[in-house]
Amino acid sequence: MKLLFVADVVGGLGRRTLASLLPVLRERHEPDFVVVNGENAAGGVGITRKTATEILDLGADAITLGNHAYRHREVYGYLDTEERIIRPANYPKGSPGRGHTVVERDGVRLGVVNLSGMLFVQAARSPFAEADAILADLRDRADHVLVDMHAEATSEKVALGWHLDGRVTACVGTHTHVPTADFRVLPGGTAYITDVGMTGARGGVIGVKREQAIERFRTMTNVKFETSDEDPWLNAVLVEAGEDGRAVSIEQLLLPAS
Ligand SMILES: [Fe+2]
Ligand SMILES: [Fe+2]
Repeated sequence: MKLLFVADVVGGLGRRTLASLLPVLRERHEPDFVVVNGENAAGGVGITRKTATEILDLGADAITLGNHAYRHREVYGYLDTEERIIRPANYPKGSPGRGHTVVERDGVRLGVVNLSGMLFVQAARSPFAEADAILADLRDRADHVLVDMHAEATSEKVALGWHLDGRVTACVGTHTHVPTADFRVLPGGTAYITDVGMTGARGGVIGVKREQAIERFRTMTNVKFETSDEDPWLNAVLVEAGEDGRAVSIEQLLLPAS
């Protein structure tokens, strides 16, 4: 089983970068599943029904989200009805959407789980206990499990990776928009990386126009943020796993759009 996970798609430029590079990656790596983090897909913050549909139409099997999941109210109904898009599972029960899903291709079932950290970002419950509960639910429903741990703190993501080692196929981090160099298969057979990065403009500051970000840091005034359009890249990881659900390799894919 080969799984391609694409990090936070930022704005229209991120979506266009995904559209142009996904066919290349499909041909080169022939992934069985493609999962995309879409929390910044709409104008750089949040996701809408239109942008989610666009990503699914490009061939994503599932979309994960993060702290910007609820930015656009118009998507709430869609989060309730579209099973291929998930928001952090440890958000309040009863809030729009679901936190895990199962997608199937050629008889292989992939469980996808979205979690939020609690350090420097908000969540209603511990991602550790939440993951345990979800894995119990997925035990007979999925052949492989992918966890997208959306968190700011590297320590929290490393700890979750160890907590889940041997129990999921892959545990990948998102949210910082900066790819880390620690991708590896942990001893129990879980592919791990602290942060996959982002699919958007590397010429900005984690997706934002750099002049605006610098201005806000420099002056502490309320500077409006717009999405940068300079130097787009796609950041992803490719995970390969055996039939037993254990990963055998994880490869980092960092591709410029042109
Ligand atoms: Fe993000
Ligand atoms: Fe985020």
